[in-house]
Amino acid sequence: MSKKTQNHRIRIFDTTLRDGEQCPGASMNLREKLEVARQLSRLKVDVIEAGFPVISDGDFEAVRTIASEIKGITIAGLARCVSRDIDAAAEAVKPAGKKGRIHVFLATSKIHREHKLGKAEDEIIRLAVQGVKRAKGHLDDVEFSPEDGSRTEPDFLIRVCQAVIAAGATTVNIPDTVGWAVPDEFGALIGQLYGSIPEFQSGKAVISVHCHNDLGLAVANSLAAVRNGARQVECTVNGIGERAGNASLEELVMTMKTRADFYSGFTCGVNTKEIVKSSRLVSRMSGLVVQRSKAIVGENAFAHSSGIHQDGILKKRETYEIMDPQDVGWGKTELPLTKHSGRAAVAVRLKHLGFKMNDDEVTAIFSKFKEIGDKKKFVYDEDLSALIEGQITEVPETWSLDYLSVSSGNHTIPTATVRLKRPDSKKSKNDEELQDASLGDGPVDAALKAIDRLTKTRGRVKDYNIRSVSEGKDALGEVTIKVDFGDGALVTGKGASTDVIEASAKAYLNAVNRHLYGGDARQGKKAKTRRAAQP
Ligand code: KIV
Ligand code: ZN
Repeated sequence: MSKKTQNHRIRIFDTTLRDGEQCPGASMNLREKLEVARQLSRLKVDVIEAGFPVISDGDFEAVRTIASEIKGITIAGLARCVSRDIDAAAEAVKPAGKKGRIHVFLATSKIHREHKLGKAEDEIIRLAVQGVKRAKGHLDDVEFSPEDGSRTEPDFLIRVCQAVIAAGATTVNIPDTVGWAVPDEFGALIGQLYGSIPEFQSGKAVISVHCHNDLGLAVANSLAAVRNGARQVECTVNGIGERAGNASLEELVMTMKTRADFYSGFTCGVNTKEIVKSSRLVSRMSGLVVQRSKAIVGENAFAHSSGIHQDGILKKRETYEIMDPQDVGWGKTELPLTKHSGRAAVAVRLKHLGFKMNDDEVTAIFSKFKEIGDKKKFVYDEDLSALIEGQITEVPETWSLDYLSVSSGNHTIPTATVRLKRPDSKKSKNDEELQDASLGDGPVDAALKAIDRLTKTRGRVKDYNIRSVSEGKDALGEVTIKVDFGDGALVTGKGASTDVIEASAKAYLNAVNRHLYGGDARQGKKAKTRRAAQP
């Protein structure tokens, strides 16, 4: 049997929490990363790349916490070919025991060797071998990535692969770092590596691919690689990642499943019914909105507007639908909650949605639920998820919104009056409450300007998105905002309310609080990145 027709299990290596998080403005806090990791575990991916431990204390802590909590899935930490990186990755994934993996990378292409590293081929091989051996001293499961692999001379790439396998690498990942590859060529490259290296054929080492989407070909390139010997694909939920992103997990998995006739024999362990839930969670946690027409998980992915299509679907679904929406987890809340639902019903629903919350958290969500239950007839799962995720994304509230009043209209200069509280001061006799008013270009602008005056910050809104969380005129509006507070870093804020001006003010205040809270952490992250020695 040829390698194309045997029964092959494709490992899904999810890098949403590492490469995905490298997307500007997508950075997540520890609790957000943990919720994503729990969802990836329900999705049943094979490997979670949880972060780049040496880069900051926050990344280290996140990898360590995920490695302690998530069981039965391999947890990887990224490292450059530098002892300090490798040791930090080993320490961070230690709680995963035998399920820990160190992923070491070093650039190999001519352009990187000559212009970035200033090193000759033999020196690159020496460093790669040294890095893999050091990682192997900590753990059995070691992955090596020749960065910019798709632009590396094939003969040299083969030498690198042979050397790192001999040094102990069990997975060799070929990255298309800059999204340069095209499917036929990339498939042929993987076929050449597979054909030249006996360890790939015997299964002693696995070929992996990691494709970026600069030309929109990440999924096509990954699938071409699978047909030519790759047995692990690296991907992210919603395709988020550096620049144009990485190969999208849901597109890869659903292509192999839907076109099993063509990808015959290739299977993976993903529970596809968890795909939509994973997409929503990652979108909320990362603040990266999914485009409506995105394949599989976009709002329009299964919406048929033309009469001819609707007629066909009613007669036989398969006339215009190649996948069953329920197979990827599209569906409605069977029994929406109402304001009459009790704490126990809410707790059951939270569990059903997959959130692990302690008693205090359930109580906090229940009180928010009561507030919106008074304002809208039905509380859907999506509403509840927005509330929970709002709770998770909270950072210590340096400021909280106490009062908001706006006046606007087509013949009025919009004005907002805002009162903020510093929650710490609640305990003191002289509760600190500050109030101010501002004019603006609209009610949202006026409210945000008033917040700037009160908090003495000056944020520039770089992106603003509002979406209805569920159906109906009374639906919760969820605002995601990206703000630059002058240091070039984008801070994401989120807020939800049935009143969109209030949702906007909450989202902006969430960004202000994150900026004030995260300033030190971000400085640390930058300083550490600069300090880390280049290989
Ligand atoms: O794109 C890339 O080359 C990477 C490596 C670290 C695998 O992300
Ligand atoms: Zn990458």
